Amino acid sequence: MALLENDVAASPTTGTEKLLPANWVKADDVLGGLAAGKVLDFEITAGNSSLIRILDHMGIAGPFKVVDPWHLADPEGVVRINAGGYSASPLGDRPPVLVDFLTRYLREGTSMGLPQQSAGDWRAALEHNLIALLASRAPSHADSQVFFSNSGAEAIESAIKFARAARPKARYFINFSGAYHGKTLGALSLTPNPTFQDGFQPLALDAITLPFGDLDRLEMVIERTGADRIAAIVVEPIQGEAGVIVPPQDFLKGLGALAQKHGILTIADEIQTGLGRTGYWFASIEWGGMDPDIITLAKALGGGLVPVAATIARKPIYKALLGGSHSKRHSNTFGGNSLGMAVGLKSLDIIASEGLVERARTMGERGKRRLADIAARYPRIFAGTRGFGMLMAAQFQPVLSVPALLGRRPRVGELTGLVGLMMWHRAGVQANLSLNAARVIRLTPALNMPEAVFDEMFKRIEQAANEHRGAWKMLTRTPARRLAAIGKFAATGK
Ligand SMILES: Cc1ncc(COP(=O)(O)O)c(C=O)c1O
Repeated sequence: MALLENDVAASPTTGTEKLLPANWVKADDVLGGLAAGKVLDFEITAGNSSLIRILDHMGIAGPFKVVDPWHLADPEGVVRINAGGYSASPLGDRPPVLVDFLTRYLREGTSMGLPQQSAGDWRAALEHNLIALLASRAPSHADSQVFFSNSGAEAIESAIKFARAARPKARYFINFSGAYHGKTLGALSLTPNPTFQDGFQPLALDAITLPFGDLDRLEMVIERTGADRIAAIVVEPIQGEAGVIVPPQDFLKGLGALAQKHGILTIADEIQTGLGRTGYWFASIEWGGMDPDIITLAKALGGGLVPVAATIARKPIYKALLGGSHSKRHSNTFGGNSLGMAVGLKSLDIIASEGLVERARTMGERGKRRLADIAARYPRIFAGTRGFGMLMAAQFQPVLSVPALLGRRPRVGELTGLVGLMMWHRAGVQANLSLNAARVIRLTPALNMPEAVFDEMFKRIEQAANEHRGAWKMLTRTPARRLAAIGKFAATGK
């Protein structure tokens, strides 16, 4: 210890460096860019190696560099259209207008970074704007209140606590098949996918999972269970991770009316659908005709730059969890931090001033038609397509009809999704898997993607279909070593 102190005293810089391992990577060096090989090495040794390895086998591990908000370059310099990002990049990657504003925020701003213990100007402004925006669509929310956190799952955790605090005697939550609400333990309890839930039972709360879109069943189950025992119904207006599943148009309205009649709370999970992606600020309200009691937001609120999430609740519900002496019953260190709030505020400004919500609706409609048209011409590749605003999906035909790979029964759906994603990647389009629908690949382009890039994206998808023609052909075009690794991953998850 004495020796170290002497070192530090003799030369602060060298002394500090001596305390670090010899292979330490300096932040300044990463700014210039780490060699791609090093990135993958580090990720495989010290990160989620299974995931990075399979992405690497698929040739989609990157690391990618941002060329402009809508294009990515891989380590070989191949440039692709970015329609990935799981709906979290409403303005594309590093949009200059947001980056410029942030640079000003960092240079000129004087707010504390984490103003948890005091009021903060950025947080106040975003709280105010979110409630004003919501109340302009659902006037009953004029006195609702906001709680900020850092991810979609955390916004759901907050929603669960709000509902439980407001209805302490009610033990059950109703959710829907195909739903995705996140993977932290509470949110996972509401995400009825055995791939994610297995191994974690008993889950954090009791969910009753019903078919998405079936009002009769919902009514029957409420009556059978007893409304007093149900805290809340949690619903995505359009299910994103299930592969863009749109319920019958009267479902959300009917669900809201049923819940209100029985005194059950409603939680609209707008984490993926909200703030423009589906062509509405709040799809549950503006498209679905619901007036939810609690609304969760995340993804777009962070402008593709920082994680920001929000849970909005009606005043009495908010007070039930955080009122009076309970004000610290739910909190986190980073939620409401000035940087996140500044990004959120500016992102909403841009979405509004550039008319991106309306644009998502019109461009999304065009994209949906284009995708459907391609699928109709290549029925041996595509089983169907769906779209709602800038949330578009193609379901691929199974790439195999018989279990053939590696002597094990592969999960054909998993394999199909991976191969479909690879096919589009090779064609020059970066897309998304769907966490609850293995064969569905989704396009979630930035809401401001230029028309020429948007159209080029479909041209590439069509070209890829034309080159492959049948789903199984995608397999034969994949090098054997890669195919073996991907097949093993699809079969075993490893
Ligand atoms: C509807 C919905 N809810 C919750 C989540 C979880 O968000 P996060 O991944 O930020 O935890 C997601 C993520 O895709 C989502 O689509």
